[in-house]
Amino acid sequence: MVDFYYLFLTNFMSFKKASLPLSDQGLVLIEGLNLDSDASDSNGSGKSTLAEALTWCLWGKTVRGIGADEVVNDQTKKDCAVQTQFSVDSQEAKVTRFRKHSQFGNELKIEVDGQEFSEGIQETQKRIDKLLGCDFETFVNAKYFSQGLLKRFTQSTDKEKKSIFDGILGLEKLESCRHVARSLLQNSMQEIDNLQHSIEDLNLKIEDEGERIASFEIEEEKFEQKKQRELSQIKEDQKDVCRNIQELQKESKLKDSIEADLKRLKKQVGEVKELEKSLDAAKHVREELFKKEAAFGFGERGYKKESENLQNKLIKIENQEIGVPCPFCERTLTASHLEKLKKEIQKDIEKLGKKVIDLKKGKVSLNQELDSANEEEDKAEEELEKAHRAEEKVNALKKESKAIERIEEKIEELKEKLLSLEERKKAKAKETSSLAELKQEAKRKIKKLKSLVKNSEKELKRQDDEKKYFEFWEFGFGNQGLKSFILDSILPTLNSKADYYSRILTGGELSVTFKTQSILKSGEERERFSIAINQRGSERSYNASSAGEKRRVDLCVLLALQGLVASFVPHDLNILFFDEVFDALDKTGSEKVVDLLIEEGGSKGSIFVVTHSEDLRNYFDNVVTVVKEGGVSKVS
Ligand SMILES: Nc1ncnc2c1ncn2[C@@H]1O[C@H](COP(=O)(O)OP(=O)(O)O)[C@@H](O)[C@H]1O
Ligand SMILES: [Mg+2]
Repeated sequence: MVDFYYLFLTNFMSFKKASLPLSDQGLVLIEGLNLDSDASDSNGSGKSTLAEALTWCLWGKTVRGIGADEVVNDQTKKDCAVQTQFSVDSQEAKVTRFRKHSQFGNELKIEVDGQEFSEGIQETQKRIDKLLGCDFETFVNAKYFSQGLLKRFTQSTDKEKKSIFDGILGLEKLESCRHVARSLLQNSMQEIDNLQHSIEDLNLKIEDEGERIASFEIEEEKFEQKKQRELSQIKEDQKDVCRNIQELQKESKLKDSIEADLKRLKKQVGEVKELEKSLDAAKHVREELFKKEAAFGFGERGYKKESENLQNKLIKIENQEIGVPCPFCERTLTASHLEKLKKEIQKDIEKLGKKVIDLKKGKVSLNQELDSANEEEDKAEEELEKAHRAEEKVNALKKESKAIERIEEKIEELKEKLLSLEERKKAKAKETSSLAELKQEAKRKIKKLKSLVKNSEKELKRQDDEKKYFEFWEFGFGNQGLKSFILDSILPTLNSKADYYSRILTGGELSVTFKTQSILKSGEERERFSIAINQRGSERSYNASSAGEKRRVDLCVLLALQGLVASFVPHDLNILFFDEVFDALDKTGSEKVVDLLIEEGGSKGSIFVVTHSEDLRNYFDNVVTVVKEGGVSKVS
């Protein structure tokens, strides 16, 4: 049991200084008087603030959910503090929370059995929660009934009731867990979808690369065939060139003998000049001899004429008569003269005859000379002829030699061609298709893609396992999972509490039952929260009830829920707040509530009830009046 002793307020909201005893106060009426307002005599006086001061002190939160600094009294603007003292498990604890405090700033202080802990707000908060065994939500749901909650409950739909119900029982945590699990599941499903798509894409890419490789291989095959064809063509060309070289080499072998012949013949050709000279000389000799021969002819013809003349002269003289004038010298011819003439003529004839003989002799030797000169000339001509023939041969041989040189050149050319063919052959043999690199690249790409696929498949498997896990938890946190499990286990307690409260509040006229499943027309069971109302044995829907009945039913439900939540708290608390919860009830309803509270009061130390209802005033053990004046609330 946690026993709260008192509450001290300093500069908290509308209060500047106030205290409220909490222990063993029985049924306490908190009433208000707002002297600042003409319209309302109670509203805004600070009644609710008293209850909220406790939650703020213990958890730093108010039910109305105002900002941290808003709790500081707006006249003082500082030094806000709320203190409470309580005992739990024979430990005495004192908690003080400050806001904008001149000395303690925003500190939270706790003292247990006289020992103060200064460990930071978070640690101190944990210590408080642990001591009380209760957090803000649970406290509010179990110990603090606000009119707001009741109004909200009464006006809400079944679905909204369910969510209030979930909130009070802490089941909304399961719902938010289910949301987390669902969003994780959706992410996981999306991820799986993405992975499947990406695996499909990757596989398509692998297929594409495979097709590329196949087309490269066809191209490569063509390339290799072409290369082999070209190589064998080069080899054929090499053979042809070799054959050509061999044939030409055979021809070029004649070169040596041609060279020898040439040498020999050139010597002969070299003699041509000499031979020409001697031929010229021979011709000259012969021409000279011809001239001589002509001179001999001329001499012969002269001698013949002279002989004829001398004969004629002789004849004339022989026929001449003496005494007549000499035909040669005009003197008268005498026999002696005649004789003398005859003799002279005959002498001349004789002389001439000698001359002729000499001439003939000369002619004979000239003829001999001519013969030998002719012979010389013939010989010289023959030699020259020979030399000329040699020259012709030399020319022919030169031509041949030139031809052989050309052949040799040709052989060199062919040898070079052979070399270049060899080089071409080597280069060709080394030639590789440029596709090989592309093929390798495609293979590398496929390897990479396959490893990506493998990784993606691993990830897919992992995601799939995770998906099952999330599916499990989505179901687990869902209505049919943990929730229905919890509801099923608490439903009997809840219903018995509801039954207990409904019996007291309606005098047994109405009974309230919680249902978590409803039966559809089809007979199928559906997870659905509902409150069933039974009026004297016959079931009636909530909506069909009267407004007063509804309010009582709502109160039953809330009280049952509160009782249930309170049973979750390990230590029972000695306080309970009802803030304007009963004001909606009619007179009978209110009286029944007070009956109930009196009955409950036995087990609770103090029950604080905020109400405007004057009818109930006489039922309370104590009355606390909150008066507000000049913006400041006071407890009297
Ligand atoms: N920081 C603050 N300083 C002074 N007055 C405040 C501060 N915060 C709220 N109030 C006033 O205190 C009153 C709160 O009273 P409340 O306890 O809600 O009234 P009720 O008696 O109707 O329950 C309101 O009039 C509100 O304006
Ligand atoms: Mg109020």
